[in-house]
Amino acid sequence: MALLLAGCTGVQSALDPAGRDAEAMADLFTWMTAGSLVIWAGVVWLAIALPRRSALEEGGSARWLIIGGGVALPLVVLTILLVFGVGQLPRALAAGEPDQPAIEITGRQWWWRVRYVEAGHPPVELANEIRLPVGRRLDTRLTSDDVIHSFWVPSLAGKMDMIPGRVTRLALEPTRTGVFRGACAEFCGLSHARMNLMAVVLAEDEFGEWLRAQRQPARVPTDPAAVRGGQLFLTSGCPACHTIRGTEARGVLGPDLTHVGSRLTLAAGMMPVGVETLERWITATDQIKPGVHMPAFSALDDAAAGNLAAYLAQLQ
Ligand code: CUA
Repeated sequence: MALLLAGCTGVQSALDPAGRDAEAMADLFTWMTAGSLVIWAGVVWLAIALPRRSALEEGGSARWLIIGGGVALPLVVLTILLVFGVGQLPRALAAGEPDQPAIEITGRQWWWRVRYVEAGHPPVELANEIRLPVGRRLDTRLTSDDVIHSFWVPSLAGKMDMIPGRVTRLALEPTRTGVFRGACAEFCGLSHARMNLMAVVLAEDEFGEWLRAQRQPARVPTDPAAVRGGQLFLTSGCPACHTIRGTEARGVLGPDLTHVGSRLTLAAGMMPVGVETLERWITATDQIKPGVHMPAFSALDDAAAGNLAAYLAQLQ
């Protein structure tokens, strides 16, 4: 039992909520489980305590057994659960606070395009990571550019489909700081299981600071290896797919890399960001994520790949 319950906590658990909506769902789960246990115990008790059929019929109590156990008990239990469930709806449907940025998240095979949209500021784009201020309610607008995906950060809120050509909404209201993990919850192709997302909940002032930093153009490299890497980035075909704000790279097919070095993970939750993992990713994308659209740049020699990785890693 202890071993089983040990799986109920952690960075990706609906039973260890860190968000207002996840809390409501965990409560609902507890009530539903309790309700079903009451019905189960009643049925077991009846099965054990029931007199023989003939004795029941003689006393005329068979009818009361059916009315009590088959109609009254389920009616009472299900009505309580219905009232409790419906009572959660207004809260779950509440929109985000108007003074907070909205987050547009687009599902792709197999990564997440993330844009922070805020009145008075140009949108900020990143990938595979969202950051949120604790105690505030933010709207997400979800869609997809290819197939149906599903956005799910179990610790924070419920699950919502991302459908091509439509925008679905989900509000997120974290209740404690920490790093949580989300996953794509709809089978979307070969690397569906390799489509994760990090959700970092920060204190409000830290969140503001982070968002201001994300608005800045990319850092200009000073280290010689990174300088060479920056030139290689522009001449090796990378700008066809990637944008690095502040440089000539303005591709829109792949993730925006302006501050890729500041992210926690690479390739949608596959590896931590670092020079070594970046180098591995650039030269062996298809081995790390089968079916990935980015070609492996296996023709790059070690020095070139190392320089490219050094350039990307310093894009904090
Ligand atoms: Cu995207 Cu499964």
